[in-house]
Amino acid sequence: MKNITVIGSGTMGNGIAHTFAQHGFEVSLVDISTEALNKAVQTITNNLDRQLKKGTIDEQIKTETLDRITTFTDLAQGAVNADLVIEAATENRDIKLKLFKQLSDICGDDVILASNTSSISITQIAAVTKNPGNVIGMHFMNPVPVMKLVEVIRGYATTDEVTVTIMELSKTLEKEPVEVNDYPGFVANRILMPMINEAIYTLYEGVAGVEEIDTVMKLGMAHPMGPLQLADFIGLDVCLAILKVLYDGFGNQKYAPCPLLVNMVTAGHTGVKSGSGFYKYTPGNKELIVADKFAGK
Ligand SMILES: NC(=O)c1ccc[n+]([C@@H]2O[C@H](COP(=O)([O-])OP(=O)(O)OC[C@H]3O[C@@H](n4cnc5c(N)ncnc54)[C@H](O)[C@@H]3O)[C@@H](O)[C@H]2O)c1
Repeated sequence: MKNITVIGSGTMGNGIAHTFAQHGFEVSLVDISTEALNKAVQTITNNLDRQLKKGTIDEQIKTETLDRITTFTDLAQGAVNADLVIEAATENRDIKLKLFKQLSDICGDDVILASNTSSISITQIAAVTKNPGNVIGMHFMNPVPVMKLVEVIRGYATTDEVTVTIMELSKTLEKEPVEVNDYPGFVANRILMPMINEAIYTLYEGVAGVEEIDTVMKLGMAHPMGPLQLADFIGLDVCLAILKVLYDGFGNQKYAPCPLLVNMVTAGHTGVKSGSGFYKYTPGNKELIVADKFAGK
């Protein structure tokens, strides 16, 4: 495997492109938005500079990594030479189904089509392609260059051969792959999202403020980051989309998204990427905003 196509250049796509390029793969990064592609290249450059400062890479690795990434706005051009495609577009079922149908026509029969989806059924995505056995979930964690886990999700039709290939590939990226089956939220988000949703309910019901909730979980449970700050980093729109998948998939009221989360996403407060969520973000800085006002106090 040499040529990797990454679709979507947002929070996850730029990290996936960075990681593959740094490990010697040629990366085609595809997005419908030129602005998103430019921002992604800038983010990758900034992150490489941070690695350089820390001494974990040298100037040559930085230059080579950037040289291995080419950007495209045309899906066919970006995917035609791929040995592996990793889709990291917006967490929306219709967008993903359309993309995989197109990819199935653009790519050869032996190309593995992976999705970085946090929650959407791999089995359903595979069903719109010509070779469902070649479709798999490759769920990286945020920030991709730093986080060790890759949750490898086997759809109903995913073959053993494809699963082994993706597990081995993850190891060449210096990641720890874990194989799981395809049910709503897989493992990571089935456990994480109800906790984040409960933290938002705790704020919504006025039990405690943003910093108090995060401090309890950081100091009391030894979590490196509180659940509200983590939600800001993941993206509140992404959290909402995942909770809806869990709610629809299991039909259980316990996954119903908190109305405060719905309001914040509707108002455009999607977390770090929009500059505000439970906290307000300015480059290199973090200050608390009056998030309690959304709780209807
Ligand atoms: N944010 C996280 O922490 C996180 C963690 C793990 C997995 N994921 C998953 O990764 C995927 C991407 O999430 P994100 O947080 O990077 O989203 P994001 O909103 O930051 O970026 C999504 C990008 O996809 C692009 N896009 C939309 N439709 C497209 C199309 N048809 N073709 C090409 N590009 C298209 C958008 O322009 C945008 O740049 C989602 O499936 C999400 O569930 C997210």
